[in-house]
Amino acid sequence: MSHAVMRLRNLTVVVNVLGRERVLVDGLNLDIPQEGILALVGGSGSGKTTTGLSILRLLSPALEIQRGVIFYKSKDLLNATEAHMRQLRGKEISMVFQEPLSAFNPVFSIGYQIEEVLRFHTDLGRSRRKARVEELLDVVGMPDPRGMRDKYPHQLSGGMRQRAMIAQAIAVDPKLIIADEPTSNLDVTLQARIMELFRKLKKELKLSILLITHDLGMVGHLADEVAVMHQGRIVEHGPTQQILDRPQHAYTRELMETG
Ligand SMILES: Nc1ncnc2c1ncn2[C@@H]1O[C@H](COP(=O)(O)OP(=O)(O)OP(=O)(O)O)[C@@H](O)[C@H]1O
Ligand SMILES: [Mg+2]
Repeated sequence: MSHAVMRLRNLTVVVNVLGRERVLVDGLNLDIPQEGILALVGGSGSGKTTTGLSILRLLSPALEIQRGVIFYKSKDLLNATEAHMRQLRGKEISMVFQEPLSAFNPVFSIGYQIEEVLRFHTDLGRSRRKARVEELLDVVGMPDPRGMRDKYPHQLSGGMRQRAMIAQAIAVDPKLIIADEPTSNLDVTLQARIMELFRKLKKELKLSILLITHDLGMVGHLADEVAVMHQGRIVEHGPTQQILDRPQHAYTRELMETG
């Protein structure tokens, strides 16, 4: 895994609060391995979600990417046109958002919203799209996939919304998934199922995953590499076993004792 599917260099994200600038991501460097799963771990507020959202340029307007480059296929995404980003989002690079409720539009059914990805990025006809949505909902362990298609986001539990979002993220066989706490609302059985799914997709679709998580058990089971984030910086990055067995940085050791 010498190749990186994506390279982040000197990424710096700031927010202005009442005229004072706060640095949220501080000159971050990170390589996401090709066909690999990189876990991004770190305490609450360390900047993990901000990093993930920066890649797809989906940060809230209050946040500003001050400098840095995000290389993907020898192109800097931070300089790409908005049209180019629209082609990438959901197609080549997709995101499982940390907050599934705000990620879905409340006025459309989840089936419609998953189908929209297929409508935008494929030329499948209507009935093929419907069938594919059902299949996707089944793959992520949704009960009654057909009935689920017509449900609205608020009619689902947090765990169901999370699964629907994973279904949406994998709908068109992306190359890279940014999964932000993808199983935080799921019970152990469903967590295991999603982990198995990610492992399978990695192999079959040669998918790369940036897995943002607090769950060190999941990291141990799934990740090839771990990057530890603290106060907007990567303090340690290496193969999973090495980081879990012999953490070098004091912050990593602290994280493992508490987390
Ligand atoms: N829209 C915003 N306005 C102001 N501050 C923000 C905004 N979004 C994020 N922040 C701040 O940026 C810092 C990093 O937030 P981020 O959500 O990236 O952390 P995180 O590592 O994902 O945390 P968690 O593990 O709790 O999800 C936090 O201090 C947060 O308060
Ligand atoms: Mg977060």
